[in-house]
Amino acid sequence: MAESTAVEGLLTRFEEALVAEAFSDAPFVTEAATHIIAAGGKRFRPLLVFLAAQFGGDVDEDDLIAAALVVELTHVASLYHDDVMDEAELRRAAPSANSRWGNSIAILVGDYLFARASARVAKLGVEYVALQAETFSRLVQGQIAETRGPGESEKPLAHHLQVIADKTGSLIATSAVFGGMVSGASPEVIDALRAYGEEVGVVFQLSDDVIDITSEETGKTPGTDLREGVPTLPTLMLGASTDPDDAELKSLIDGDLESEEALAAALEGLRIHPVMERARAEVQRRADLARSHLDVLPDGEAKDMLAAVCTELVERSS
Ligand code: IPE
Ligand code: IPE
Ligand code: MG
Ligand code: MG
Repeated sequence: MAESTAVEGLLTRFEEALVAEAFSDAPFVTEAATHIIAAGGKRFRPLLVFLAAQFGGDVDEDDLIAAALVVELTHVASLYHDDVMDEAELRRAAPSANSRWGNSIAILVGDYLFARASARVAKLGVEYVALQAETFSRLVQGQIAETRGPGESEKPLAHHLQVIADKTGSLIATSAVFGGMVSGASPEVIDALRAYGEEVGVVFQLSDDVIDITSEETGKTPGTDLREGVPTLPTLMLGASTDPDDAELKSLIDGDLESEEALAAALEGLRIHPVMERARAEVQRRADLARSHLDVLPDGEAKDMLAAVCTELVERSS
């Protein structure tokens, strides 16, 4: 992603601060907490904080780094927990914390990182604490709703879209809002940033759903969601099909995918199925919707970069 020099400088400073934040007096806690942080990651949420901060006035750089730390620490902590829930073995191309140290350690280290995020957000002020709490509450409720699945009267696809808005859109929206708040942006600008972030978050997760099936290069095991029976946009679209030709693939996907052969066959069947094109078209449609929320923002480099995020999310799943 092309980055302006100002944003690049902030991201460099942020990296050092993030690793420092995971340090503990107990060497094992430091090792386990820095494990996923040091393994990489796109730092998408901090980037949004920094870009959104360009729509207000003067910015206190320490506050900006602190806001970026809050969202990334919350994100990484949720990944420690998510990998336990999804029984994922790989995260950021490294063994997940649960596969390395077991579920209890992974959950507790996730809690530790949440606590570090809380310590940071407390210094920013009560408005930030309130938004962080609301965001975390939505994220967790999204994960719970995903785990429980749709109720009797709920449509599976509508349920899934609500799940992803909550588990992923909430924190991405808050990243953009935090940037706006730190820079003292107007309420109108903050509303636009929130709407953009919420929609981009949904696109982000929908494109992640597509990539879970198509890509070998995510640093995660392809088909992890499929194997665990976690619904994604393509599998939900397939599930809704009444075409008799789809019956075989549907029963394969609903069956036991523990063996490498079964998972490979399910992935292969899906990759060549028309639902993948329909899922990609939905990513495109919602990326365009996300971009439209930028219309009210002043033109300039930051707006161009936020628009470029939408294009990249479409491209990574094409
Ligand atoms: C992964 O998020 C979890 C989702 C919400 C899809 P990212 O794709 O931002 O993960 P990293 O931070 O780059 O590893
Ligand atoms: C991750 O969801 C969302 C959160 C951690 C809140 P997923 O389970 O879909 O993401 P990946 O594919 O493991 O990164
Ligand atoms: Mg997962
Ligand atoms: Mg999950």
